[in-house]
Amino acid sequence: MNLLPTATATAPGPGPGPGPVAAATAAPTSASAHATSPQAGVFITFEGIDGAGKSSHIGALADAWRDRGRTVTLTREPGGTPLAEKLRALLLADAMDPLCEALLMFAARRDHVCNVIEPALARGEVVISDRFTDATFAYQGGGRGFDWQVLHTLEGWVQALPDGHTRQPDLTLWFDLTPAVAAQRLAGAREPDKFESESAAFFERVAAGYARRCHAQPARFARIEADQPRDKVWADVLAAVHTHGCWQGQPGQVA
Ligand code: TMP
Repeated sequence: MNLLPTATATAPGPGPGPGPVAAATAAPTSASAHATSPQAGVFITFEGIDGAGKSSHIGALADAWRDRGRTVTLTREPGGTPLAEKLRALLLADAMDPLCEALLMFAARRDHVCNVIEPALARGEVVISDRFTDATFAYQGGGRGFDWQVLHTLEGWVQALPDGHTRQPDLTLWFDLTPAVAAQRLAGAREPDKFESESAAFFERVAAGYARRCHAQPARFARIEADQPRDKVWADVLAAVHTHGCWQGQPGQVA
């Protein structure tokens, strides 16, 4: 099978690629989907370092969409399918080398994209995911120092659409918080997993990874200042969904 050209990746070299995501169920790309259907799927992701405080806002945003009569698929990464949840358990507990970690993240993502995200978008649902590929660029690329170009290649394979584009979120809400404040919030909350046990320097690199990714794809990113009172953060989340045209079914239309 041929590798598909991607919208955001540098052109991958020759070699075997996986082909597009389940062509029978895949949704059209955002631009064409929203031009033709008022109930086109919307894909929103939440990102940020551990302790940034995104969790409660994810549920609140799902409720806000349901109040507008939309069906919401609420999901997470790594995870979201039975297979990906098994990989999640390994990823959050077991030590492994950075390539193994990156490949397992993308293996879990492929199963998630094929079996949950694309089918839900094709049904015209709102998909809200707690983390997606930006986390791999931030944690494995930034935190672990793993090769950014290899991640681009894997992203292009795993998120390939039949039309040759790469599936990307319509909107990514990046909860930006300094690692020192995030660490204070996490302290004593529960037994830390493999990533939460990492050093302050690791989380500084993760935060820089998110900033780099945001800088590279600014149109779909909304940076949320997470070091504010909860109601102000929520107001910023709603404002971002509005200004990115998501309520109106025209994501990408930044006001
Ligand atoms: P969380 O669900 O509590 O956020 O835990 C998921 C952890 O996995 C979190 O520490 C970030 C990490 N992670 C990566 O390192 N790479 C990825 O691609 C994803 C999705 C998550």
